[in-house]
Amino acid sequence: MSTRARFPDDFWWGVATAAFQIEGATTEDGRGESIWDRFSHTPGRVLGGDTGDVACDHYHRWRNDVALMAELGVGAYRFSIAWPRVLPEGRGGINSQGLGFYDRLVDALLEAGIRPFPTLYHWDLPQVLEEAGGWPARATAEAFAEYASVVASRLGDRVTDWFTINEPWVVTQLGYVLGLHAPGRAEPAVGPAVAHHLLVAHGLAVERIRAECPRARVGIVLNLDPMEPRSLHPADVAEARLHDASMNRWYLDPISGRDYPEEVTELLEWDRREVHPGDMEIIAAPTDRLGVNYYRRQVVAAASVTDEQRPLPWTQAGPRFTEMGWEVYPPGLYDLLRRLHCDYGFAEYLITENGAAFPDPAPVGGRVSDPERVAYLRAHLLAIHRAIGDGVPVGGYFVWSLLDNFEWAFGYSKRFGIVHVDFANQARTWKDSAAWYRDVATNGSVS
Ligand code: FCB
Repeated sequence: MSTRARFPDDFWWGVATAAFQIEGATTEDGRGESIWDRFSHTPGRVLGGDTGDVACDHYHRWRNDVALMAELGVGAYRFSIAWPRVLPEGRGGINSQGLGFYDRLVDALLEAGIRPFPTLYHWDLPQVLEEAGGWPARATAEAFAEYASVVASRLGDRVTDWFTINEPWVVTQLGYVLGLHAPGRAEPAVGPAVAHHLLVAHGLAVERIRAECPRARVGIVLNLDPMEPRSLHPADVAEARLHDASMNRWYLDPISGRDYPEEVTELLEWDRREVHPGDMEIIAAPTDRLGVNYYRRQVVAAASVTDEQRPLPWTQAGPRFTEMGWEVYPPGLYDLLRRLHCDYGFAEYLITENGAAFPDPAPVGGRVSDPERVAYLRAHLLAIHRAIGDGVPVGGYFVWSLLDNFEWAFGYSKRFGIVHVDFANQARTWKDSAAWYRDVATNGSVS
């Protein structure tokens, strides 16, 4: 007999998307070029040569997509605002048509009883700002603060829930250190500067948003992977700690008023020249909540250790992986939430992304069967429920994603949606996970 896990009455049930992944219309109504336009139009960068030119055509179909969310019964929507739509030149002249799009979207959401949770930066930097130096340049953080003011002053009378930056680790590592994401620069030496400026941008934006919108509830969104040592061999344990410091604590510590983890600054031989007086205070601007994106854990092994040397080799009991090659590991979310609350004690956590890509079958009779996704979402929600039971203040959950969409360097080849999109004709078809999630969101419980 299954038991019912009831969530708090004021828990936000939501879905998430990001501008570049769904909007399309990249040259319409005065939108400027973004680094993802340039990157995806560069041969060899995105699988299959896919671009965001059309994506889910949400820029034209947004009314239907809002209606779709209303049918899903969700009370919250996390979307992102495209900086180059609002400020085509990165700073300065406001494109009123671009800003007007989000203004109308917010009104339609509120009318449908859906609370907007916009993110100001989900990776689509105006190309002009990249050409002026991009995130390795401090001026980009200052430009971001101006952009935050512009958006908050227009929407802040209706929007109270704001996120600044999505996943600064991904921007730094995939965008600038490895060059697998836009802007495609493989320059490890700029990594610390990029990460620092993203965090300064976050801190400056928190102040600007509050100045425009005193009721605002603001936070940053981090992708956090628990790091599990391959065994309890001291070298494995040390390696896992280092990975944790460089991926997770590098962001968690400074936003919590601590310094960057010393072991990482030393390893990177970073001389901290980008850290201006007062920066660490800016980065630690008080926030109202932390956005947590959780997809997987990582198992970390020291290169210097062989399996024969491992005292108790860690074994995986029938591990499962998503189509991204990410391990399905719901207990990691429970562990992560407890750890965050023990070590940092944020006022609130929102699970701003969680979901999975699986090779879905084609729609049959107006429905897509996706039992693995249902199982994935269910298990992660139960992990959250358990953490809430332990006293971790988790205030909401956003499924990644509402729609199948442009999955960055993988193009349209990976489908994360709970609603299927036929990219040939833009038809939206519910997957079983959508129907399942509607029941969860409507009842406030998982069974
Ligand atoms: C996260 C991104 C999001 C989506 C998911 C699968 O890293 O924030 O845009 O691509 O991964």
